Amino acid sequence: MFDLTDLTTLKLPFMAKSVIKLSSVENVCVSMQELCSIPRLVVGGGSNLVVLEPKFDGIVLRPEIQYYEVTEIGNDVYLEVGAGHPWHKLVMRTLDAGWFGLENLALIPGWMGAAPIQNIGAYGVELKDHCHRVKLYDFEEQAIIELSACELNFGYRHSVFKENPDRFLVLTVTLRLSKHAAPRVSYGVISEELERRGLDAEKPLDIARAVISIRQSKLPDPDITPNVGSFFKNPVVRSEVADRLLDEFPEMPVYFDGEYTKIAAGWLIDRLGFRGRQVGGFAVNDRQALVITNDGTGTADDLRELVALILSSVKATYGLSLAVEPTQLGQLN
Ligand code: EPU
Repeated sequence: MFDLTDLTTLKLPFMAKSVIKLSSVENVCVSMQELCSIPRLVVGGGSNLVVLEPKFDGIVLRPEIQYYEVTEIGNDVYLEVGAGHPWHKLVMRTLDAGWFGLENLALIPGWMGAAPIQNIGAYGVELKDHCHRVKLYDFEEQAIIELSACELNFGYRHSVFKENPDRFLVLTVTLRLSKHAAPRVSYGVISEELERRGLDAEKPLDIARAVISIRQSKLPDPDITPNVGSFFKNPVVRSEVADRLLDEFPEMPVYFDGEYTKIAAGWLIDRLGFRGRQVGGFAVNDRQALVITNDGTGTADDLRELVALILSSVKATYGLSLAVEPTQLGQLN
């Protein structure tokens, strides 16, 4: 067994029978077919994975593909990027090249290949806004295929990959960027941060700087404090349900979107006094209640207990069921 604990940012014990590193798309063609009938888990940056069973009796695939190809058409830039590129470095590289679009998504941990899986998003922008196409290995068809963004069924932290968890392996993603800056600073904290630091809201690099400093002030660095970012999704409810809750909790942050409304789960948890609450080695972060951290000694049972406490309190007070955001290996409840 291989000890892969350090491949995940939550640092729960993780052993696997074998690991296969995939360094190129060609490499994938020759090695995949025999894996179709074996339990598989794809691990990139490991920053959105919760391992609840220490022993995985299958194969861990590491898509380290470093492909990088640029096609410029007028002011549009189509960038095909291998799944193994660390996301934040890629964001900064595109901005340095004068290609805009990813600035609001700076400092998100993880690799390129994971970005379409949960449709990463922050500060008013999601991957879907800049995803053009993906190249995949399809374990069902046993072939390399390409899907365009409209076939990926993107939604809030959702995609076709969430609907078919074991079917695909992301090989490359083609991003659509622009040589024209189109700043998106309507997310309140960004404009406040730009102003506070004297940055220019018209410059994508300045927007990235503002996002980086907001994230650094709110979210624990997974390289220092083990965590997987937001542990729960913000619940999306029918707007009449949100209206009823707003009658009782007028300060509750909500994002109306017609028939549906997204509610800030961090606020719901925070209001119940969970910030800093500890169970064994796991604790609710003391700055962002949506984040759960491990002090390095946490066990899967500690995490299960803390999560169960949060879920039952949120349900009892607000009548809402929170969904866990990161991918889980093993059972959380
Ligand atoms: N809030 C509190 N207390 C808390 C946490 C949040 O009152 O402990 C309030 C905030 O004051 C704010 C609202 O809740 O009014 C929303 O908080 P925030 O802007 O921090 O964003 P979030 O909804 O908690 C989401 C994403 C983050 C992303 C931020 C910024 C999800 C599950 N999470 O968090 O993504 O960075 O918005 O866009 O949608 C991640 O997915 O891992 C992640 C960090």
